[in-house]
Amino acid sequence: MSIAIVPAPVSVVPGDGTFTLAGATVSGPLAEYLSETLGLAVVESGGDVRLELGSGAAPGGYTLEVAPAGIRLAADATAGLFAGVQTLRQLAANGPVPCVSIEDHPRFSYRGAMLDVARHFFGVADVKRYIDDIALLKFNHLHLHLTDDQGWRLEILSRPELTAKGATTQVGGGGGGRGSGGGSGGFDAPLFYTQDEYREIVAYAASRFITIVPEIDMPGHTNAAIVAYPELGDSPAEPYEGIEVGFSSLAIRSESTYDFIEDVVREVVGLTPGPYLHLGGDESLSTTDEDFLTFIARATAIAAAHGRTLIGWHEMGRSRDLPAGTIGQYWSFTTPQEGAAEHTLSFVEQGGRVIMSPADVAYLDIAYEPDAALGLVWANGPTSLEQAYDWDPADIVPGIGEEQLLGVEAPLWTETVRSIGDAEYLAFPRMAAVAEIAWSPRGARQSFADFAGRLGSIEAVWDAAGIRHRPLDG
Ligand code: ACM
Repeated sequence: MSIAIVPAPVSVVPGDGTFTLAGATVSGPLAEYLSETLGLAVVESGGDVRLELGSGAAPGGYTLEVAPAGIRLAADATAGLFAGVQTLRQLAANGPVPCVSIEDHPRFSYRGAMLDVARHFFGVADVKRYIDDIALLKFNHLHLHLTDDQGWRLEILSRPELTAKGATTQVGGGGGGRGSGGGSGGFDAPLFYTQDEYREIVAYAASRFITIVPEIDMPGHTNAAIVAYPELGDSPAEPYEGIEVGFSSLAIRSESTYDFIEDVVREVVGLTPGPYLHLGGDESLSTTDEDFLTFIARATAIAAAHGRTLIGWHEMGRSRDLPAGTIGQYWSFTTPQEGAAEHTLSFVEQGGRVIMSPADVAYLDIAYEPDAALGLVWANGPTSLEQAYDWDPADIVPGIGEEQLLGVEAPLWTETVRSIGDAEYLAFPRMAAVAEIAWSPRGARQSFADFAGRLGSIEAVWDAAGIRHRPLDG
């Protein structure tokens, strides 16, 4: 029986025979989760499927032994067990579980997906669903792009107008504070997360070993904030529901701007237990170079004082005044464009590392083919599944290799994405390609044909879970 797992494990040694899950019991950490996902009965100890901590597996990794008499899954930490459970779900997708011995561990500690909840809003139930979708592929970070020109999506108690006035719009029209029906939040749901709802997302993600990375984009992409608090801009702003970029900027020379950043960062950090805070910094096309540098030095110093590791899109690397260890997120192409390589190296020179999200291969908002109903054609798009697979993050910027990389992220911008089903269609299967790049150590990856041949097993899980995806033969 062939064994097909995505992302490819480090070592797979097939055995003889199968193990039958029907009627089996499970014991150990995460037994409840296996009961939910595979229908096993939980027992106190000695289950047919035994989950065990303390294996000596590599960090983040696991070992999985399937024999006709039982299954043993072991790891040093529960996150490793959780990754192993995702492998087991794929092995079980097509009937009896084939006997096998697997050793596995991740290439990168940061394996991220990003959801833009600003251009179109997605309610709590939709975000939870996306969390489950990405957990299956062993992603462990979800970056939420919470603010942009079209909307401010997180309640900030000290700045109530951000959501009272800044969250009423989205791309194509939100109907004065009412949803467009795009998300399962429904027609009457406000287009932002209350602080309790955000906490619920953070907790749900943690139950799937996923860290939420909140992004408050600045100084550009701030039209909605300026609509809410006009003193934050140099000129008045109107609510915006289009898809242009680069037209807004916070007022760089006004102290109100820095008071605002202090208030927002304090609350976001208070709500978010993870180590990271993303401050954007991209496409600040309406901010002069001098103002941009002044702003980044001040804003990052304010944010760093709250004890978080900052992340910025690669343009932030124009600044040589970043807090030590600030992480750069590269979003130029697999062949770096104007200044992108230099700006990305600047993070490393200032003690940070890099997350790779090359737009021409890792951006999930790009259409799969010309004239597609979903997705935009930009960044050298359309982007096929093969293009999404056929690149390596250590080969893009000279001077940024394995050691300088924190990881890889697949962003999904939502200009055309009106429902979580639309998001899933654009994400899958291409996000499986990015997952393999992020998880599978270089030697474990083979050809695109080999990857494509393994996708059938994960498609079975997608279909069983009702996860929308583009047809694999399409
Ligand atoms: C970006 O795509 N503006 C980061």
